[in-house]
Amino acid sequence: MLEEVARAISPYFGWISLLFATTVLIYWFGISGYSLTSHVSLPGPKPWPYVGNLVDVAKYGGLHKAFVEYGKQYGKVYKMYLGRFPMITVADPEMLRYILVRDFDKFPNRPDFTRSNPPLDVGLFSAQDDTWRRIRSILTPMFSLSKLKEVVPIIEDATDPLMDKLMKSTESERSVDVSTIFGMFSLDVILRVAFGLEAEIQTNPDPELVKKALTVFDTPVYIRLLTMLPFYQHVKNFFHINILQNVPYFLKVAQSILEVRKKSTGPVRRDLVQLMLEAREDGDKTGNKTMNDKEMIVQSFIFLLAGSETTGATLAFTAYHLAHNPEIQEILLHEIDNAVRSRSDASMYEFVQSLRYLDQVICEVLRLDSVGFVTSRQCKEACVIRGVEFPLGVVLNIPSYAIHRDPDFWPEPEKFDPDRFLPEETEKRPSFSYLPFGLGQRQCIGTKLALLEMKIALVVILQRIKFERGLGTTENLEFKADGFILRSRDPIFVKLVRRSLDNE
Ligand code: HEM
Repeated sequence: MLEEVARAISPYFGWISLLFATTVLIYWFGISGYSLTSHVSLPGPKPWPYVGNLVDVAKYGGLHKAFVEYGKQYGKVYKMYLGRFPMITVADPEMLRYILVRDFDKFPNRPDFTRSNPPLDVGLFSAQDDTWRRIRSILTPMFSLSKLKEVVPIIEDATDPLMDKLMKSTESERSVDVSTIFGMFSLDVILRVAFGLEAEIQTNPDPELVKKALTVFDTPVYIRLLTMLPFYQHVKNFFHINILQNVPYFLKVAQSILEVRKKSTGPVRRDLVQLMLEAREDGDKTGNKTMNDKEMIVQSFIFLLAGSETTGATLAFTAYHLAHNPEIQEILLHEIDNAVRSRSDASMYEFVQSLRYLDQVICEVLRLDSVGFVTSRQCKEACVIRGVEFPLGVVLNIPSYAIHRDPDFWPEPEKFDPDRFLPEETEKRPSFSYLPFGLGQRQCIGTKLALLEMKIALVVILQRIKFERGLGTTENLEFKADGFILRSRDPIFVKLVRRSLDNE
């Protein structure tokens, strides 16, 4: 019988061997990258060729949820694979202290596959090693509290059209789409602060500008698929593919604003464009490090990307939580009303900083709904940390969304409870168990700006309006982990109610 089969296939033996060899080669190509961590003795889900654990990601309903599920199954440090990339996920606060701070020099950069092509590669988010160090050291003073006080009037100006819109919406019986309203507000703020552009975004927006700004992260599916292929890095460089959209448009806008500013002699607003120009003038005089025109233009664009949707979404999440937790909103309104009554001549900046409960509420929103649901690093120098081996080149995931839901640090993690951020409660937790803005040398440079913007907006709003559940209010917040950030699956609807005159 066997002999007959052998005789029958013998004329095709060459073809069969070729087919077999090709199949083995294709399979090998799909798993070869996994060898980087094959000797690392950590638990983790088994990968499929090419797609790694992406099947699980789809099954669990997104990467943010996959991190939560994997945490339950494999603990706080485990191996996993996204596409062909072997990764180590670290959700252990003590180990994060080493990775993000103590051994920062071994993990200074984000992974190569998240890195943008020129000219965006000099943007703070993508920049690496010495370029990142130089640019970060120039930009850091611009985000200091003393400099940020100067942008408070710019933010306050943007709350005027916001309030007009919200007050009008109180006339409706139905809930309104706060995602769009806060999205436009935060876009307006960042265009004013980072681009020096007063574009009437909230009142009379240029449709092209808005469309382009709202679709920057809409990476086409074919590029998403390409990122999983072994040769993506080469294809990306060769064809100048950027994960981000509309880059030339925004670089052109930023360039024209910079040119106008350079020629301007009269008084100008002290926004980030102006601060970057002033830093360069100082640097030229003192011999300190500076940025060239191209680098400044790219930073403006990166601030637009990093600072707009993140802040707008967090404000919309806050409205949702306050509407669903009226007793918490009452405590907050009480704090704001009392503070307004005794404000005397405190500046807006000092005023919002004095509101402790407001700070707790925002911290709790950022815990549950971390827009930056995962941050990542790439290992630059093979090392062993707390007994775990990190091979050169391995990608590290820091899954903030999952860490913020770990019951070891956060009892009843799904409950919205701002009292978790009372000083005595915070002291009980390991410090690296809360990282909505990342932590360490590479944490979000815009943290203070984002908090300031959100606090000013909420204080202005809550003096006249409160959020409630009503007709059409979003009942359950469902997220999608899209690229770099966590987004609400659908627009968030909340009812806006005018507060009675007693409270105004
Ligand atoms: C609620 C608002 C915001 C959230 C939740 C947020 C979150 C984050 C996170 C998680 C990171 C990564 C940190 C890490 O890798 O350790 C980051 C980085 C960054 N963020 Fe933000 N961000 C917000 C607002 C802003 C704003 C307003 C700006 C600027 C105007 C900004 C600019 C940046 C930049 C430039 C980086 C890269 C920093 C570096 O690599 O040195 N972000 N942000």
